[in-house]
Amino acid sequence: MIFFKKYQNLISQVTEKDIFTNELTELYEPMNYILHLGGKRLRPVMVLMACDLFDGNLKDALKPALALEFFHNFSLMHDDIMDKASLRRGKETVHVKYGVNTAILSGDALLVQSYRMFEDLPPDLFKKCVHLFSETAEKLCDGQQYDMNFETQKEVDYEQYLKMITGKTAVLVACALKLGALIANVESQNAENMYEFGKHLGIAFQLRDDYLDLYGNQEVVGKKTGGDIYENKKTILYILAFQNADNQQKKELEYWFGENSGDEEKLRHVTQIFNELSVGEKCMKLVQKHHETALEFLGKISLPKEKKQPLYELADYLLVRES
Ligand code: IPE
Ligand code: IPE
Ligand code: MG
Ligand code: MG
Ligand code: MG
Repeated sequence: MIFFKKYQNLISQVTEKDIFTNELTELYEPMNYILHLGGKRLRPVMVLMACDLFDGNLKDALKPALALEFFHNFSLMHDDIMDKASLRRGKETVHVKYGVNTAILSGDALLVQSYRMFEDLPPDLFKKCVHLFSETAEKLCDGQQYDMNFETQKEVDYEQYLKMITGKTAVLVACALKLGALIANVESQNAENMYEFGKHLGIAFQLRDDYLDLYGNQEVVGKKTGGDIYENKKTILYILAFQNADNQQKKELEYWFGENSGDEEKLRHVTQIFNELSVGEKCMKLVQKHHETALEFLGKISLPKEKKQPLYELADYLLVRES
C-alpha cells in the first residue's frame, strides 16, 4: 500500500480544501461536501499510477486524475438518488442532506467541472482523452439503465449482469488506467492492455462491492447494509442464489424481490436464503477469477515485472478490501 498512499496523498492535497469557492453556495457547497467525505480515491490514483508506470509527467496527469474523481462523485450523487441510499462514506448522502433537486443540479455541475479538467492538455491529447472519457460516460449511463431495468426483471443471467456492471463500474476503472497511459504517451498496444486490465479489475471490484453491501461492516463500508436487497437489485448474490435455489427458495426470492418493503423482515429472510446457498463464498470465487483474468492482461504489458509492482499490489488490495 506504500505506492497507493503516495498517489492518494497527491489527490488529497487538492480535495482537502474547498475546491469550489463560487458565491452560489447552494450549488457548490454540496460538491465540496461529497469530495470532502473522502473515499478511496481509487480512480485518480490509477490515473497517476499508470502515468508514472510509463514514465509520464505526474504534473500533467493531476487534472485528468481529478476529472475522474469529479466524474465518479457526480455519478454517486445521482446513483444515491436512484438507489434511495441514505448513507455514503459514513455520512448523509447529498440528496438527504440538501434535497433531491440540489443533488441533481450539483451533480450536473460536478460533471461539467470534470470535463473542464482536460482543458490544459495539448490539442492531440485533449481529443484522445475527451473521446475516451465521453465514450466511458456513455457506457456508464447504459450500465445504470440496465441496473434499474433489472430491478423489475425477475430473471437476470450472469451474462446480462456482466454487461450491466461492465458499464456502470468497470469501464471507468479501465478508463482511469488508459488515461494515465495516454498522458505518458504510451503506444497503443500497451494502452489497450491497460484498459483490459482495468476492465477486469473493475468487474472484480463491482462483484466485491455487491458482496460488501450485505456481508461488509456498515461502519467500515459507510453504506447501509443490505441496501441492494431493499431496492430489489439483481446483484451477483441474487443471481447466484437464483441459480442454486430449489423451487421453494425460488418462490421465496420471487416473493421478497417483488416487494417494495423497506422493512427488516425482508432483509432477514433474503439473507437467510443467501446464507443457506453460500452465495457469499461463491461470489468471492468469482472475484478471484476476474482478478486472475485482470492479471493476465497486466502480464502482457511490455515492462519489467518490478516496474509493474504497484499495479500488482493495487490488484491484491482490491481483492480483500473491506470498504
Ligand atoms: C463506489 O465506488 C461505487 C461503485 C462503483 C461500486 P468506490 O467504492 O470506489 O467509492 P469511494 O469513492 O471509495 O467512496
Ligand atoms: C455504482 O453501483 C455504479 C455507479 C455509481 C455508476 P452501486 O449502486 O452498487 O454503487 P454503491 O454501492 O451505491 O456505491
Ligand atoms: Mg448505489
Ligand atoms: Mg446503483
Ligand atoms: Mg453497491
